[in-house]
Amino acid sequence: MTGTILVCGGAGYIGSHMVRLLADRGFEVVVFDDLSTGHRESIANVELVEGDVRDAAALDALFGAFRFEAVMHFCAKSLVGESVLKPLEYYENNVGGSISLVQAMQRHGVDKLVFSSTAAVFGEPESELIDEDHPKSPLNPYGHSKLMVERMLADVAAAHGLRAVALRYFNAAGASLAGGIGESHDPETHLIPNVLKAAAGSGPRLKVFGTDYDTRDGTCVRDYIHVDDLARAHLAALEFMTREEGFHAFNLGNGQGFSVLEVIQAAGKVVGRDVPYEVAERRAGDPAVLVASSALAAKKLGWQPEITDLEAIIESAWHWHREQRY
Ligand code: NAD
Ligand code: UFG
Repeated sequence: MTGTILVCGGAGYIGSHMVRLLADRGFEVVVFDDLSTGHRESIANVELVEGDVRDAAALDALFGAFRFEAVMHFCAKSLVGESVLKPLEYYENNVGGSISLVQAMQRHGVDKLVFSSTAAVFGEPESELIDEDHPKSPLNPYGHSKLMVERMLADVAAAHGLRAVALRYFNAAGASLAGGIGESHDPETHLIPNVLKAAAGSGPRLKVFGTDYDTRDGTCVRDYIHVDDLARAHLAALEFMTREEGFHAFNLGNGQGFSVLEVIQAAGKVVGRDVPYEVAERRAGDPAVLVASSALAAKKLGWQPEITDLEAIIESAWHWHREQRY
């Protein structure tokens, strides 16, 4: 595929890595973002149209000004705990925003969409590795909102010929090996940036949420997938949609789980000093173990993660932490 790609939410953490990869591969890129959690600095020299995906008039102006080959949709509110406290904001932004975007695509004859979904659609795992057929029972409004959008995309694909791929990321981690962009959220809730802030002394002592889980060391196990590997999967999804009709969903992970304490230990090695931490209560809504089977993505998208070593992933995040500009 060639041409212009619309990246909604492209000023955010994962979106900005996507924008860089698309530009490196010769695509024209337009970012549409309301900068609610994104950063202008993360997409320097890229065309940015500021706006909200729920604003139909803004989308009409955008689609009228450019001819898009495909759309990537990273916009969302994505804090699990906040979604429990403010569910309407999550359904409004995540479900309402996706409906608005797909309606605009339909009005303007754009028929290919890659959607950012999540491991949170599964809920408590029933098997060691989670594949696409695993039951979907989200534990929180955030996961429900993403599952609703997947359902909606499948229905629109069946009724109107939309081609859509939902990529269910497990734990996005790391930063561009080329530097300059990385994860910057406020508040930051994700483990690896919080571990690095604690190690560097630029944040509080790390709180380990729960040491009484049924795992090898009592702390939660997660599948950390490098953000550039996620971006590469989106490129594969674009190619896939030129061949395949309909709606498809793929799980994207490393296939290996690491506990919170293992992440702390690996970060200590990368940084060269111990990470100060304390044990805290379990965080509501955290499943004990979440590890992906990405076999379907390997088979159908020809995608494999390339940066699979935990220390290498943390090293890339540490590089960003030290140069962080926004
Ligand atoms: P992020 O908050 O850094 O990026 C989201 C971007 O969307 C931001 O630039 C924000 O300003 C923009 N945005 C939000 N609502 C908008 C709206 N209504 N209109 C226009 N722009 C809007 O988040 P991220 O960590 O990069 O995650 C990107 C996507 O991936 C999200 O959909 C998230 O749910 C999903 N996801 C993330 C992870 C993870 O580990 N980070 C895991 C699974 C799924
Ligand atoms: N954790 C801590 N201390 C912290 C932060 C996190 O102990 O300061 C623990 C959490 O309890 C969890 C693990 O580290 O066990 C990973 O937590 P993150 O917040 O980094 O990531 P989550 O697994 O909660 O969430 C991520 C994405 C969500 C997505 C989810 C799917 O942020 O968008 O994966 O599993 F829905």
